[in-house]
Amino acid sequence: MKPISRLSQLLMLALVCLVLPAYAADKHAAGKTAKVTPATHAGHPPGAAIASAHALATDAGLQTIKAGGNAFDAAVTVSSVLSVVEPISSGLGGGGFFLLHDGKTGKDIFLDAREIAPKSATPQAYLDKNGDLDVNRAHNGPWSAGIPGLPAALVRLANKYGKLPLKTTLAPAIRIAREGFPVYLRLEKGYAQRSKVMERYPGTRALYLADGDPPKVGEVFKQADLARTLEGLADKGLDGFYRGNVANKMLASVKAEGGEWTARELAGYAVREREPIVFPYRDWRIVTAPPPSSGGIALAEILQVLEGWGLSKLDAAHRTHLVVEAMRRAYRDRTIYLGDPDFVKVPVARLTSPDYAAGLRATIHPDKATPSDLLPGQPAPLEDDETTHFSIIDADGNMVAATQTVNLLYGSGMVVPGTGVLLNDEMDDFALKPGTPNAFGVMGFAANAPEAGKRMLSSMTPTFMFSPDRVTALGAPGGSRIITEVLVGILGYDDGLTAQQVAALPRYHHQWMPDVISAEPDAFDADTIQALEAMGHEVNAGEGTWGNLQTVEWDRDTDTLSGGSDPRHPDGKAAVLLQP
Ligand code: DON
Repeated sequence: MKPISRLSQLLMLALVCLVLPAYAADKHAAGKTAKVTPATHAGHPPGAAIASAHALATDAGLQTIKAGGNAFDAAVTVSSVLSVVEPISSGLGGGGFFLLHDGKTGKDIFLDAREIAPKSATPQAYLDKNGDLDVNRAHNGPWSAGIPGLPAALVRLANKYGKLPLKTTLAPAIRIAREGFPVYLRLEKGYAQRSKVMERYPGTRALYLADGDPPKVGEVFKQADLARTLEGLADKGLDGFYRGNVANKMLASVKAEGGEWTARELAGYAVREREPIVFPYRDWRIVTAPPPSSGGIALAEILQVLEGWGLSKLDAAHRTHLVVEAMRRAYRDRTIYLGDPDFVKVPVARLTSPDYAAGLRATIHPDKATPSDLLPGQPAPLEDDETTHFSIIDADGNMVAATQTVNLLYGSGMVVPGTGVLLNDEMDDFALKPGTPNAFGVMGFAANAPEAGKRMLSSMTPTFMFSPDRVTALGAPGGSRIITEVLVGILGYDDGLTAQQVAALPRYHHQWMPDVISAEPDAFDADTIQALEAMGHEVNAGEGTWGNLQTVEWDRDTDTLSGGSDPRHPDGKAAVLLQP
């Protein structure tokens, strides 16, 4: 589909929406002004809680707390251990977002360690000779990789927010990399899916085929080079990764595989600290990810649209219909407006304002789907559950919600020889060709076009929720479905569910294009599907499950700490450590 025709469809859709009858909002709900919960809380949690996608990471994080570390120190430990034991999902060669809450001051900080585009990544570089998107370049090898951000986040967390040195907080990751850990099913299956690409690269072969064949469940997987790279980071900070030996090896291997990075691009990488998106939803104060994530703006739009209705009073079909219509509109705005705020002017205030949400709400029909397009959309690819999220709260009320990634399964597939660093394939999150969907079926235009030094738009949505009596941190992997996973989690907490129930909740998703509701098998009963179809929705309930939500909660009323780790993945673990 040509971008221009899609853009004109957008404008038509906007016009159609404006003439649709307004839905009379629920009077009680509409009149209710949400209390904005204060940022600080009297008292403190009775201990610490961590939920992550791998038990080794959760346990190591709790050890860091026991050793006198705070939530930020534990975040360094959990993040680095995940980088070792979940190479399929995230790592030093990737990036991430770390949402931080300072328990003492109540301040929230968004640490943006997203990868950036190298200068060589011009839009033309990703087109084949017919002018189509070169999917191989976008997904595999050096051209798919942005300059990594995760190591810089670890250094910033330790130097500015932690109490312990990197030597201590990185020690578990170094040990596990050197001594190895047991291969589990996701690693084995993911490798089999990605092996053809991965085995193109000598560094990947040396690591993954060290014993002659691919990693198998139960085998011990060792990464001695990665242990040394982590030691360099612990000893020299940024210089251990972005300058010197490791940097030179990255430059040489990117070049050897036909890509182009410069020493200046590596040495110049810097994390950004940004103001989170903050908005009220009913009794909650929601604190979440700003651009270059699309998650916070989308959540603000969706939840503020929904606040106008008393969702709990509706039957499942009408509740789902309204949530889907709100999702549809938020993902449309994602496509058009969102990109790296250092490069494009993102209308954050407008998109997150209650008035804008009221305008969107007025375009939603009570029981008729708004068609996303006049033409059928692209089929949504099935999500692989890569990327990883962890949530932490400590006894001082400090909190971390962090989502980190190398993008697709095992990122670019390319391990830099001698470093253990697996490069990401995050460049695919740019709109490499305007209007052409990426691996997650989402597309973009100028705001998210690649440009030297620019961060690619993300859906990663680490989020905090504060109410007068409850405090939570949550987030998830799932590509473009991350935002709706977090949304379903927020609605679950608002319904009074526990952390574990929130992690288990069945999911559904709509991303404007394709114009279809994707649903997990347990999300809707047959009557609800039928009712949604009668309203004009297409429901695809046959996609299997997705996501891997990790959340912690402090219930201040009962002074209880709890965690929820997604039951879809048995490797995860939520654990609580009460203060002696
Ligand atoms: O930043 C993003 O939105 C994506 N790179 C996240 C990728 C992801 O969640 C992969 N898992 N399905």
